[in-house]
Amino acid sequence: LTVHSYRVAVIGAGYVGLTTAACLASLGHRVTCGEVDAAKVERLRRADVRILEPGLPELVAEGLAAGRLDFVVGAAAATADAEVVFLCVPTPMGEGGTADLTAVEAVLTEVRDHLPAGCVLVNKSTVPVGTAGRTAALLGRDDVAVVSNPEFLREGSGVRDFLNPDRIVVGSRSRAAAERVSALYAGLGAPTVLTDAASAEMVKYAANCFLAMKLSYVNSLAELCERLGADIGDVTEGMGRDNRIGPSFLDPGPGWGGSCLPKDTNALMRVAEAAGFDFGILRSVIAANDRQAARVADKVAEAVGGSVSGVRIGLLGLTFKAGTNDLRDSPALAVAGVLHARGADLVGYDPGLLALDQPEAHDLLAAAGILTLVDDVLDVAKDAAALVVLTEWPEFRGLDWHRVADALAGRVVVDGRNHLDPDALAKAGIAWRGLGHRHAQ
Ligand code: UGA
Repeated sequence: LTVHSYRVAVIGAGYVGLTTAACLASLGHRVTCGEVDAAKVERLRRADVRILEPGLPELVAEGLAAGRLDFVVGAAAATADAEVVFLCVPTPMGEGGTADLTAVEAVLTEVRDHLPAGCVLVNKSTVPVGTAGRTAALLGRDDVAVVSNPEFLREGSGVRDFLNPDRIVVGSRSRAAAERVSALYAGLGAPTVLTDAASAEMVKYAANCFLAMKLSYVNSLAELCERLGADIGDVTEGMGRDNRIGPSFLDPGPGWGGSCLPKDTNALMRVAEAAGFDFGILRSVIAANDRQAARVADKVAEAVGGSVSGVRIGLLGLTFKAGTNDLRDSPALAVAGVLHARGADLVGYDPGLLALDQPEAHDLLAAAGILTLVDDVLDVAKDAAALVVLTEWPEFRGLDWHRVADALAGRVVVDGRNHLDPDALAKAGIAWRGLGHRHAQ
């Protein structure tokens, strides 16, 4: 429990905003969350959460019941008596790869004349280095300090990450404002890095780009392993046991995606260019990832005899990673796009797209128009020349491969995540082809 309970406003009830609001309420603060979408506000007041995030619906319900969490329409309405205001609105990839600050600017315009004197405005959205300064200028209020407090939440474990952070990063010109923001998290006992705003903004990009670099490196290594007859699984285990490297983020895949890594790598690239700095390493990291979907598609073509044109292919997993229902910038869809362009007849199945009523995901798939979504794993296998694993859903490991084999037209699985047990497939007479694996030759 925190020593002191603050009055907090959170602007934006998206993934980051809602998690922040519910978690801060659970720490004992009084949180009002302002959101433009009135229908969403109505739903959230009934604790109807449409984001697939373990623990989040429960925390929202608890906060509402305890009177520590409330949802209102609009930003200004939420900030009336706030001591700390969190901006958690989207900063999508805009023109030329830079972050689009339209939503941030719209909120600032709305709240500018309503913020209580002496409150602290916190940027939680990932924003280009230097935005805190621009925010302060746009706000034009000497009595409101601007703080950068980036989040490091992973989709699918956002609540756990929020409540068990590796670190808290808080940056501001005002030491008092930075200390007020760190005090919100006092109950968590996490190490806190207090710095200036630009450095705090930079930490977020630096961390995400480093993670992307780790993955592009591993995906490139996997390709080299294939050529040299080495095994990427053994190689990453051997590397990962070095404490300086660590075992996480070393699994090869169809490329890194989602709503953060692609956006942030591109944004840092643009920021570097604008500063006249040639960030060659980062350019290579992005280029390696851009090649990855075609590389997986090539493996699929090879597995079905050279060409996928007119060939039925079943896709296992469409979301950008397991445990989410998020299709934004999904590497699985990038692979599907390449296969579709080469004339494949695609059927897809994803456990995350069955769980909830989710028009957004279904609209996105319909708009892409590259595959038929089915809700049974045997339907995705039916008459397919090959199955392709694109998302690492745990349940794929436990599939009844004998039944899958009976449904398949061609008995081969391309494992784009090195996720399955090749022996289990072999027992059912299915050939397994992974990434960077010597047995895949
Ligand atoms: C990422 C960061 O991990 C968070 O720390 C950060 O807060 C967040 O972005 C953000 O900026 O908001 P997230 O986008 O949820 O979180 O996804 P990750 O779990 O990082 O996965 C990113 C991509 O890398 C996925 O496509 C995933 O499948 C892929 N990946 C991850 C691999 O291919 N192999 C791995 O070993 C790990």
